[in-house]
Amino acid sequence: MKKADIGLIGLAVMGENLALNMESKGFTVAVYNRSFPGEEGVVDRFVNGRGKGKNFIPAHSIEELVEAVKRPRVIMMMIKAGAPVDEMIEQLLPHMSPGDVIIDGGNSDFHDTERRVKEVEAKGLYFVGSGISGGEEGALHGPSVMPGGSPEAWPIVKDILQGIAAKLDDGTPCCQWIGAGGAGHFVKMVHNGIEYGDMQLISEAYSLLKNRKGLDNDEMAVVFEEWNKGELDSFLIEITKNILRFRDEDGKPLLDKILDVASQKGTGKWSAIAAMDENDPLTLITEAVYARMLSTLISERGEASNLYPEPVELGENLYVEEIRQALYAAKLISYAQGFSLILRASERYGWELDFGTIAQIWRKGCIIRSVFLQKITDAYKKAPELPNLLFDDFFRIKIQAALPSWRKVVAEGALSGVALPAMSSALSYFDGLRTLNSAANLIQAQRDYFGAHTYERVDRDPGIFFHTNWTGEGGNTVSGTYTV
Ligand code: 6PG
Repeated sequence: MKKADIGLIGLAVMGENLALNMESKGFTVAVYNRSFPGEEGVVDRFVNGRGKGKNFIPAHSIEELVEAVKRPRVIMMMIKAGAPVDEMIEQLLPHMSPGDVIIDGGNSDFHDTERRVKEVEAKGLYFVGSGISGGEEGALHGPSVMPGGSPEAWPIVKDILQGIAAKLDDGTPCCQWIGAGGAGHFVKMVHNGIEYGDMQLISEAYSLLKNRKGLDNDEMAVVFEEWNKGELDSFLIEITKNILRFRDEDGKPLLDKILDVASQKGTGKWSAIAAMDENDPLTLITEAVYARMLSTLISERGEASNLYPEPVELGENLYVEEIRQALYAAKLISYAQGFSLILRASERYGWELDFGTIAQIWRKGCIIRSVFLQKITDAYKKAPELPNLLFDDFFRIKIQAALPSWRKVVAEGALSGVALPAMSSALSYFDGLRTLNSAANLIQAQRDYFGAHTYERVDRDPGIFFHTNWTGEGGNTVSGTYTV
């Protein structure tokens, strides 16, 4: 019997579409789904339904699945992140052989992937943790794929993963080896964080256009349509235009009927936590996560809006182009922050990531796909060691050009009571970064005053620490330097 090129576990939305994508590229796929109560028969329904007449081999147990795949075997899991992944690895290992590869294509926590790579390698097998972005449609027609883990696995899985990935116009696949350990899932996590940031920025622009400019949904759709023709050209701007035009069955805009509570599965939060762990100010993405959290406080929001009523009034002195500039400038900051986090993690974990290639992988197929990402690839091509994208000429020129509008929009939001957490926190970050003599001297003085935490002096060499007996009552004992 013909053996499969790959075995796929998990026929939910993403798994099913990925299986169809693989098959359409000429690969034979063995498919298996765990039989949870109520989910029996998923495999047969698939091979007799969407998979009918195609090169699929149905498997009804782990043994059958592993047996159906040619060696070295590649088994890909498209299952819920967390404990189910560990359980599935445990079930797979006794049936697989040294040199085989297990791929986790879910949104796993990169710490888990780091651990799993070691655990699976200890058994003589290889493990790949791959970010896959693009939703249902991307999975079917070409996602952006971010594989990392055991480097030995890459030559084995390369043809399949690059085969199913989205392609740039010149045919370059949006899938390259990211790096060792949890690098693939880390990069996917930051992708999702950036996705949160982009969505928050777009929603802030929407809020200004709607509440301050008084545009209706069709008028806003025209604005986003125009924006999508220029430097903001991206998937998320495009779908925003479509969403604004979408009508419910009664002919009224569906968007207006959707409750203003934004949920999350946690990858944005993971990005914020990772940034804290790296001491990296990922302010915009973190604000975007907080904004979703704040949106869920529905009863508090109701009460606060009664206690502090201040309806937003229409304002003449704000232009659509200024809102576009503010959105664009803040987006530049968000990507600069996201890549700064990737750089720090790369250094800490020794991943030796190629930042230009990461931006290129995101050019097509994924949720944050945009024309703008090419500028990031160009920046790293010019200067692979760039510590911050804001030092690149393209970023500098664009930010300087947008700055007056950006400042005005943030001020306008504050004066009129429109919450702009992402646009304004990005501006604060920018102003903080470009301030040579900041106010942190006062914080150090306070720390030393109340806790003898010491300080360095501008008139002495760095690395020499001083303590002052500020009140005349303290002693000379100083506090140690440590991080909890
Ligand atoms: C992708 C998306 C996807 C993510 C959803 C929902 O790249 O295809 O990032 O992986 O899970 O978009 O994320 P939230 O539920 O956290 O908004």
